[in-house]
Amino acid sequence: MNLPSPLQELNSELFTKKNIRVYIKRDDLIDPVVSGNKWRKLKYNIEKFKSEKYDKLLTFGGAFSNHIAATARVGKELAVPTIGIIRGEELNIDSNHTIRQAAKDGMQLVFTKREEYTLREEKYYHEELRRRHGHLLIVPEGGSNYQGLIGCQEICKEIEVDFDYIITACGTATTATGLLLGSNAEVIGVSALKGGDFLKENVKKYLQEFGLIEQDSVELYNRFQLKTDYHFGGYAKYNEILQIFIQEFEEQHDIPLEQVYTGKMMFGLMDLIKHEYFPKDSNIVALHTGGLQGKIEF
Ligand SMILES: Cc1ncc(COP(=O)(O)O)c(C=O)c1O
Repeated sequence: MNLPSPLQELNSELFTKKNIRVYIKRDDLIDPVVSGNKWRKLKYNIEKFKSEKYDKLLTFGGAFSNHIAATARVGKELAVPTIGIIRGEELNIDSNHTIRQAAKDGMQLVFTKREEYTLREEKYYHEELRRRHGHLLIVPEGGSNYQGLIGCQEICKEIEVDFDYIITACGTATTATGLLLGSNAEVIGVSALKGGDFLKENVKKYLQEFGLIEQDSVELYNRFQLKTDYHFGGYAKYNEILQIFIQEFEEQHDIPLEQVYTGKMMFGLMDLIKHEYFPKDSNIVALHTGGLQGKIEF
């Protein structure tokens, strides 16, 4: 693992004109598959697995889940047997690249009916899974648990410049909550999904689950700013505008982005900069959360 991941300053006439500095935290360079927030969320789950001597690590995901691919790879590299409960009984180990790769990395894949998949957070279902599969560490979909938050919190400790804002793409807002816990900066979350307002509730819930007292929780939550206008039609949807933006950004900065999360985050950041969202002299960090294994080459 390439840690700490590099921090690069982005150069652009726009930033000079607006008197701001923009950095990018290259968590995409941590590992080609276990990249970005995936490693951050898994790290302490793996530690728990080893220290509490579980037999297998079980987690959940859809057919294109970066988290499934990353968990399978970590399992292979760190000798942790993994089980992936995959949404959709119609799928099989040849359905797509993510699933094929997870299977190749040794993950036991269980293709599950959508109705059963909706039970994934229910305690009684976890007991059933333990009856079926043995002494399991069950990690929620996307790695969104206490251990995941601690891992994401660590991102901020690695950033060696002072920063006023940090911006990240959001799917569940676990990463964004970790950034709130790890810094004193304003944390901007860009929803990768349509109707992303629920992400605010997620942040509140995660802060509560983290065990903060009410007053601290409110202080942290007040530093969260959610942007819901950059979803480009919904989860994994994109259009020509995003496509062209990604191509131009990659050409200008020689940094790859993908269309599901990081392209939308960066598009949002540039749009906010253009619309004077950031005061003069702001230092902004954009978190590259990886996901490049799901990148579509346009
Ligand atoms: C590449 C990438 N970026 C961002 C996110 C969103 O992270 P979170 O669910 O913590 O909001 C994900 C989630 O799966 C992801 O795969």
